[in-house]
Amino acid sequence: MAPSAFSSGFLAWLRRKSGQASSPPLASPAPSSNDSSSHYFADTLPNQRETQHVDRDKLNDDLQYRVAWAQLFLGFTKEDGQVLNAALPLLNPIVSDITNGVYAHLFRWDYTKAPFLKRNVGFEGPLADSLEKLMLDHPQILFRKRFLNTYLRKVFDADYEDPATWVYMDRVGMMHTGRPGFKHRENKTPLHVDLMACTLLLGWVQDVVITAVFTIKEKDLSQKDRMAVLRAFNKVVAIQTDLFQRHYIRDDEEAAFNLAAQRFQDS
Ligand code: HEM
Repeated sequence: MAPSAFSSGFLAWLRRKSGQASSPPLASPAPSSNDSSSHYFADTLPNQRETQHVDRDKLNDDLQYRVAWAQLFLGFTKEDGQVLNAALPLLNPIVSDITNGVYAHLFRWDYTKAPFLKRNVGFEGPLADSLEKLMLDHPQILFRKRFLNTYLRKVFDADYEDPATWVYMDRVGMMHTGRPGFKHRENKTPLHVDLMACTLLLGWVQDVVITAVFTIKEKDLSQKDRMAVLRAFNKVVAIQTDLFQRHYIRDDEEAAFNLAAQRFQDS
């Protein structure tokens, strides 16, 4: 599909997006009840009397179990995955604009720019030695953009029935906590990005995608399909967010312990 699927002005908006705090309104429709993706849980009917057991330890120890429950909770169905795959040709033309927007946005603050000063895995060229010298067209950033492009395309292209998709998303989360996550990152300089920055960036990308989908012309995407794409994307972002968080905070007790320790230090 040609980029003309987007209303005029959207690409200009996207390029101005860094620094703009717009948030398009989107009602959250009720979740669908026909979950077909879970092998672990029975479908939940609205008038169900029995409660199903969720194994708290297994949520932490078994990734596919965790994702299965997250899918069930959010109402992420096989159809949601298919809807995202079908939307790829519409979103494909703006993936590199979104990537450019992400880096322009992260480069606005030292806090989110600093991680890009360090040598990135697989990049062999010269590094910038200060934040001021690190520009958006630096070879390491151009190199990094290729990875982000791949990730963004994957969100729309992935086979959500394949457990490997969730393993990949889980490793993307893990690799920002200092653990390698991927084989190609083993024995390389660890990456540490705070959870807050990751969560906010997911929200920022979500905002851009919501806006993009709203500006696609009616003849290219009906209202019904538009709603389906946004709902499916929203659910994937929620699961990806969880697959970041679980590597930072193992469970609520650990969070409570950390908070108590912090308060003790501050007192
Ligand atoms: C929306 C949340 C985020 C997603 C989905 C994401 C995704 C990714 C992916 C797919 C990679 C490449 C993985 C590979 O090596 O195969 C990567 C690398 C990287 N990310 Fe993120 N990221 C996110 C947030 C952030 C934030 C907020 C920062 C910095 C403030 C950041 C900094 C980096 C850096 C510096 C690398 C390169 C590390 C290296 O190769 O040594 N990421 N990220």
